[in-house]
Amino acid sequence: MNIVVIGSGAREHAICRLIHRSYLCENLYCFPGNYGISQIATCKDISGVDEIIKECKIINPDLIVIGPENYLSQNLAGKLRELNLNVFGPNKEGANLESSKEFMKEFCLAHEIPTAQSKTFNDYQSAKNYLEINKGPIVVKYDGLAAGKGVFVCQNFDDALSACNKIFIQKIFNKNENKVVIEELLNGQELSYFTITDGDNYVNFGSAQDYKRIGDNNTGPNTGGMGTVSPAPILNQELEDTIQKQIIEKTIIGLKKDNIKFQGVIFFGIMVDDNGSPFLLEYNTRFGDPEIQSISLRIKSDFLSLLHATATNNLKYANIDFIPFKKSICLILATKGYPDDYPKDTTLNNLNDFENSEDFYIFHAATKMNDGKIFSTGGRVLSIVSLDESYSKCREKVYEVADKIDWEFKYFRKDIGSNF
Ligand code: AMP
Ligand code: GLY
Repeated sequence: MNIVVIGSGAREHAICRLIHRSYLCENLYCFPGNYGISQIATCKDISGVDEIIKECKIINPDLIVIGPENYLSQNLAGKLRELNLNVFGPNKEGANLESSKEFMKEFCLAHEIPTAQSKTFNDYQSAKNYLEINKGPIVVKYDGLAAGKGVFVCQNFDDALSACNKIFIQKIFNKNENKVVIEELLNGQELSYFTITDGDNYVNFGSAQDYKRIGDNNTGPNTGGMGTVSPAPILNQELEDTIQKQIIEKTIIGLKKDNIKFQGVIFFGIMVDDNGSPFLLEYNTRFGDPEIQSISLRIKSDFLSLLHATATNNLKYANIDFIPFKKSICLILATKGYPDDYPKDTTLNNLNDFENSEDFYIFHAATKMNDGKIFSTGGRVLSIVSLDESYSKCREKVYEVADKIDWEFKYFRKDIGSNF
C-alpha cells in the first residue's frame, strides 16, 4: 500500500513508525513531516489544504491518515473523500465534536452522556451576569479550537471574568465572533481513552494518562502535554465497563442517529470522580499527543490494516492486540522557556547516538537537519518512550536517556510516572 500521513509532530512520527513496520506498507509519505519522520517516510514541505489535496491526487494513495485537528476542522477529510480516496479521520461534521464545545455539550445532552452541566454565552455581558450568580469555582471554555489553551479552570469570580474578558474583549482566539461555554468544575482523576470507529463498528484502542502542566507536581501553566503513562493506571475492568456503557456506546449510537458518518479515532477526555463515576470532559477527534507515543509501543498487531479497515468500512473484521503485561512511559523534552517564549534553532548534539528498538524510541516533534546538525524548531521537541514490565522500569530508561541527551536548552519534568 501507499500511505500519506498529514502532520509534523511526534504524534505523526509514532503513527508513521507503526505504519512503516507493517508488511503491507510499500511507500510512506508524510506532509510536511520533520527530520525524525524523514528517516522512515518521504517528507515534503507542504501544509496547506489545497496543496495537500493536489499532492494526494498525484500520488493516489491507498490510505491518507490525518493527524492534527485543524485539518479535520477545515474538512480536509471530506474533501479527500469526494475524490474517492480512503481517509482515516472524520469529515468536518464529526470533527465538530472537538472543534465546538457548544456542539459537544448539545450532543452529550441529546444522547444522555454524563458531562459537567453547562451554559453557552454569545457575549461578555450575559456571561458576566451568569457569573455574578454562579461565582465559582467554575470552568470557562472558548468554543473553538485553541491548541489546548482555550479552557480556563477558575477558582473564583475574578478569574472567570478575566477569562471571559480575554475571549470577548481582548479577542485572543478569534477577532470576529466569540462564544463561551461555562460549566461546573469537576474534581477527580483524568484519563484519556481512545476508540476507533468506521461509523458502524468500533474497536477500543487503549488508554493513557497525560501530564498537562509544565512543572513537577502539576504546577505552572498548561502545555500540550509533558508526558504520558499507558495504560492509564486508574483504569480497572469495572471502570472500563462503565465508560463503555455510559460514554462510548452512547457516542457511537448518537453519531449514527445524527447521521454523522465518523471514520477515525475518538479520544475521550474523562474525569473520574471520587465515587468512581466517569464524566466526559471533552472529545477530540484525532489521536492524543503525547498519548499515542506511549500507546504505540504497546501495540502488537498490524496498525496499518486497522486504519485501512476503518477508512474502508471494514472494521468489523479488524482487531487490535497489545503486547501483554507491558507498560509504557513517554517523557517530553521541551525547549527551556516553553510554553512561553523560547529560543529556536538550538543544536541537539548527540541524538543519533541513541538506537531505537521495539521497546525504546525517540520520536521527533520539532527538529530539522541542516549542515549535518540537528536543530530544534519548536517548543516540545522530542518524545522519549520506553516499554517495560513496570512503570518504574520505564521511568529508569526514559530518564537515563533524557539525562544523556546533549542539548543546552533541554527542559523536562522529573516526575512523569513517579506516582504509580
Ligand atoms: P483541553 O480541552 O484538552 O484543553 O483540556 C482542558 C483540561 O481542562 C482538561 O484536561 C481538564 O484538566 C480541564 N477541564 C476541562 N473541563 C473541566 C471541568 N468541567 N472540570 C474540571 N476540569 C476541567
Ligand atoms: N494530550 C492532549 C491532546 O492531545 O489534546
